[in-house]
This record gives sequence, C-alpha cells and structure tokens, in this order.
Amino acid sequence: MSKKIYIKTYGCQMNVYDSVRMADVMAPEGYTETDVIDDADLVVLNTCHIREKAAEKVYSELGRIRQLQDKRRAGGQEMLIAVGGCVGQAEGEEIMRRAPYVDIVMGSQAYHELPRLVRDAGGKGQALALDFPEVQKFDLLPEQTGAQGPTAFVAVQEGCDKFCTFCVVPYTRGAEYSRPVADVVREVTALVEEQGAIEISLLGQNVNAYHGVDAGGKVADLATLIEKLSLINGLERIRYTTSHPNDMTDRLIDAHGSIATLMPYLHLPIQAGSDRVLKAMNRKHTAAAYIDIVERLRKARPDIAFSGDFIVGFPGETEADFEETMRVETVSYASAYSFKYSPRPGTPAAEREQVAAAAKAERLERLQSLLHRQQVSFNARSVGQRMGVIFDRKGRHDGQMVGRSPYMQAVHVLDAAGLYGTLVEVEITAASGNSLTGSLLTQAAA
Ligand code: 5AD
Ligand code: SF4
Repeated sequence: MSKKIYIKTYGCQMNVYDSVRMADVMAPEGYTETDVIDDADLVVLNTCHIREKAAEKVYSELGRIRQLQDKRRAGGQEMLIAVGGCVGQAEGEEIMRRAPYVDIVMGSQAYHELPRLVRDAGGKGQALALDFPEVQKFDLLPEQTGAQGPTAFVAVQEGCDKFCTFCVVPYTRGAEYSRPVADVVREVTALVEEQGAIEISLLGQNVNAYHGVDAGGKVADLATLIEKLSLINGLERIRYTTSHPNDMTDRLIDAHGSIATLMPYLHLPIQAGSDRVLKAMNRKHTAAAYIDIVERLRKARPDIAFSGDFIVGFPGETEADFEETMRVETVSYASAYSFKYSPRPGTPAAEREQVAAAAKAERLERLQSLLHRQQVSFNARSVGQRMGVIFDRKGRHDGQMVGRSPYMQAVHVLDAAGLYGTLVEVEITAASGNSLTGSLLTQAAA
C-alpha cells in the first residue's frame, strides 16, 4: 500500500513551489499526498522565517503534531516528522535538541535529499541536511509532475546577495543562483503543453537579478529569459516576483513596453521613504531613484500597477523619517504589504537600538490606512473597464468563478461554470476593497 505525505506550507510562493517539488521527489518512493494529517506516514512543515516569532510558532505546531505521532505509533503506525524551509535552515540542530521527536531537519536547498533522509530516519535516528550544496537543488529535482493548474509557478532564481540589514533571506536561502535558460524554457513549455498552464509566474527572492547561462554559454538576464518565454505558443501571461529596485534594468523596463504577454503588474518593495533609513537598511537606493524607476515603467507601460513592501519602525527611524515614507503615496499602489520591524537574530539591525512598540504600532496604522485607501481607489477605477481574466478557482455561488485581472485583482464572475483555466474578457461592474465583480463579454463555450 502506498504511503502518505502531508505537507504544510508557510510563507512565500517559493515555499509553495518547493512543497510541490517535495511531493514530486517522494512520489517515486511510493508516497502520495494527503490533506488529512492523521493519515500521514510523513509530515513535512515547510517553514518561513520572515514573520515575527516564526521559530516559536513552529515549535508549538511541532508540539501538536507530536501528539498525533504518539497516537499513530501507539496503533503500530509510523509518522515521521520533517522540518524544512527557512526555520529549518536557521534553527538547524536546535530543532533536534528542543524537539527530539522530530526525525528530519533540512535546509532550503536540500529537498532533493528527502528520500535519503526519510530512509536514514526510518532506521530510527535523526537526519539533518543543512548545507548549501555545490550542485543546486533545481538540477537534482525530477521534472514537475504535480499539476499546478492554469496559473503555474516556476522558480528561476534563488538566494540573495544583497544583505538588507533586517533580512534573514541571505542566511536562510544562501547566495544568488540562477537556473540555466534552457531548463526554464523546458519546464515552462511542459507546463503549458502538458498541464494546460496559460500563465506562468517566475519566482526568485531576487528574481530580476536573474543571470542564467544560455545555450551558447553566455549569461542571459531576466529580460532575455522573458523574451524567450514569450515565444511559447499558448502561454498567455508572464509575471515575475520579487524584484529589487537596483536590478530594474533599462532592458527589463523596456520589456514591459514591448512584450504584450508580460503583465502590467510589478511587486517592487521600497521598504522606507527616508534615504537615511534606506541607507541604514543597506538598500543601496534612494527614494528618488525608486520613484524614477516607477515613472520609467509607467512611460513604458502606462497601465502598469504597483505593489510594494514597507517596514515601519526600523531602528533609528524618527517621526520625520516616517513622514517621508508616507510621501511615497505618489506611487499610488494597487496593493501593498506593510510590517512593523521585528528583529531577526543574526541580522545587523537586530543589534541596534529599537523603536518603541507604541510608535511602531501607530505608524503602521497610519501607513496601512493610506495604502488601503489607495487600493480601494485603484479597484474603483477598474469599474467600467474591460480586461482579461484567467479563472483559476470556483466561487462561493453556483456557477461563479474567480480569477485574476492583469493587475492581480481577484475578479468574481457569475454564470462562468465551465470556463476554468481559460482567459476570458470581462467587464468590471463593481469593486470593493479586496476584489472586483464582472460579467462575461465572450460567450461561454458550449
Ligand atoms: N521585520 C519586518 N519586516 C520584514 N521583512 C523582511 N524582514 C523583516 C523584518 N525583520 C519584510 C520586508 C520584505 C517582506 C517579504 O518582509 O518588507 O520585503
Ligand atoms: Fe532580503 Fe530582499 Fe533584501 Fe535580499 S533584497 S536581503 S531577500 S529584503
């Protein structure tokens, strides 16, 4: 009888992608995925270290899973527990010490080793894999088998060399690495031709720093990669995330003007609007340089929508610094994520004098209410427009489907049953803070 693997995923799209690949490597070992944790012979927590108290949350989740493990073992069944992802990488052996019932701890580059780790741990003992191997995990993973649906993700780059002083990613994901162009083209072609994907999101912690080798041994940038992918028949949409302002090259900005399938939406974190704070964050760009990139992108693609990330209460941030962050409102974001700074052990900013909690909370509230107003007004401006929507899930009502606009808004449409996985013209009829409602312009296929 086949064994069951249960994977719980936290955090970013890269982790979602990695979890799909973990299921892929375990399939030849006889494991099928389950969403009932009690049935699992192997439980994997694919963790994220970005949010506050991330490690503590993992430990308390592990405490709960331990009870299920005890129950299964009492009934003569196995339940191996594996911790992967960025908390696995950052905590390492500490997890084995604090939670000795955990069988496997693996870093973010070690998923291809999961079958071996399971075999090692099955022989009773703990198994650990935390290295950043010479050979990259992508080269060792099998072809994608798990269907991702009409909108699929492909990791093209991993790691970060930028060392923003608040961020753990350079430590938990390692140095920047880009997959060769041919590998990416092959994977995307297979997703389109064999799995019905019509939208591809290219993933990387620093995706626009992509520099993969091409067939001639030369280095290709992200603009070149996107150009190549845009030639694939049947691929209707291309997106990429997450980008750093300093890697928004002229060529990539131009690509937004010249490649029709490259979507008019960009997640471009700024983090703060004060140059003093940006410097302390080691961002290596000014607020003005960021605004200039936004303006050049708008020139290339007038309807492009922006989303961003912000951190308030970074060590040393004064009221005056924060006011400058509020001035970034000139960008007019379609959506945005904002966070209170929280210290990450091992990062430079964690050692600095911290801003008072009350000031952080007050600034976050002010910023979020501004960003929310911008999102509401962006959505309101969509009403009356016609736009393409790819339906990728069912809505709550009978026959209702939900999809994404070019600008990443969720769009709800009635009488759209049967249109799953297709790109359809929709007229937007209403908007709320979080989503749009529309009606079909094209007749539903019989
Ligand atoms: N504190 C608060 N926010 C953080 N982020 C990353 N590290 C921290 C931290 N220590 C935010 C940044 C990043 C997003 C993914 O998470 O805004 O862009
Ligand atoms: Fe973290 Fe992004 Fe800065 Fe890299 S560029 S250190 S991933 S915030």
